[in-house]
Amino acid sequence: MLHTRVCDLLNVSHPIVLGGMASGTSVPLVAAVSGAGGLGTLGVTGFSPSQVREQVAAIRALTSKPFGVNFLLFETQEASFAAALEARPPVMSLAWARPEQNLRPYIQRVHDAGLLAMYMASEVPEAIRAAEAGADVIVAQGTEGGGHVGWIASLPLVPMVVRAVAPLPVLAAGGIADGRGMVAALALGAEGVLLGTRFLATDESPLHANLKQAIVRSNGHDTVLTEIPDIAAGRVWPGAMARTLRNRFVEQWAGREWTLRRHAHAAREAMQTARANGDAEHAAILIGQDAGLIDSILPASEIVQRIVTEAARIIADLQPLLR
Ligand SMILES: Cc1cc2nc3c(=O)[nH]c(=O)nc-3n(C[C@H](O)[C@H](O)[C@H](O)COP(=O)(O)O)c2cc1C
Repeated sequence: MLHTRVCDLLNVSHPIVLGGMASGTSVPLVAAVSGAGGLGTLGVTGFSPSQVREQVAAIRALTSKPFGVNFLLFETQEASFAAALEARPPVMSLAWARPEQNLRPYIQRVHDAGLLAMYMASEVPEAIRAAEAGADVIVAQGTEGGGHVGWIASLPLVPMVVRAVAPLPVLAAGGIADGRGMVAALALGAEGVLLGTRFLATDESPLHANLKQAIVRSNGHDTVLTEIPDIAAGRVWPGAMARTLRNRFVEQWAGREWTLRRHAHAAREAMQTARANGDAEHAAILIGQDAGLIDSILPASEIVQRIVTEAARIIADLQPLLR
């Protein structure tokens, strides 16, 4: 069994974390990952305080294992953040603060509530900022990942972050979908992994079945970094584009972002309808390059199990290389 400091810190059996994806996670998915020995995380950005309380209670009804909730700090509502602290999920996972936002008070409040603070960074200075503000775990997220990402790939970013925030434990994120990615992350100095796209293609994921199939169909070469989903949603992200499947929705607006801005209201409605109806050509489908490694929809617990089994086998298989 693979055991790192992160397992002890988070009180989990396997150093595998579900990314707290707003609109990509659900109570059953979180409970499934935590129940399998990883750390499930619910994305609660945009939730009202009562939704936060209800969903945290619903997770507790399904599992007694540790779990987290995730806030995108740049658009976090104080009442929902306070409700989450009161609900006391063992881990508060934070990401994407505005440059002028002071991280210290957020992390101090997490600690005052007796909880752990995890912070996701896409650049070394951002990781140092979170470490200096008192974060307990840093997630280094490479540009291969799905959703909003930075510009630097996991291969150089992870060891740079590990070095910059030592001795804090680091999780690698972005482009990891299996045991191979897990072993690579460990080799880079990470003490665990955080996965988004792989867990979107699970039985428990809240995505429409057609959108899950779009992940299976993706060859990993068909994603782009774009602001199109944010412009359509009327959202200004502080310093990131979204890695998104290059489908008709993206192609329709690429190079015409100024027009999209003008028609954002209609585009947003069309995007939301397409998502609800499972229209994989006209929905915004935020996925990572590791979609090219995903070829079936599986139960989330099986993914956790497969990753640890495959990682252990690879590590054992590498031993004979040492002469
Ligand atoms: C649809 C989607 C939504 C996401 N939303 C969030 C979010 O709300 N908060 C967050 O910290 N990360 C979010 N992420 C990023 C993930 O936490 C994670 O860093 C990323 O998915 C890792 O790359 P991978 O998709 O290659 O595994 C999101 C990712 C995806 C694919």
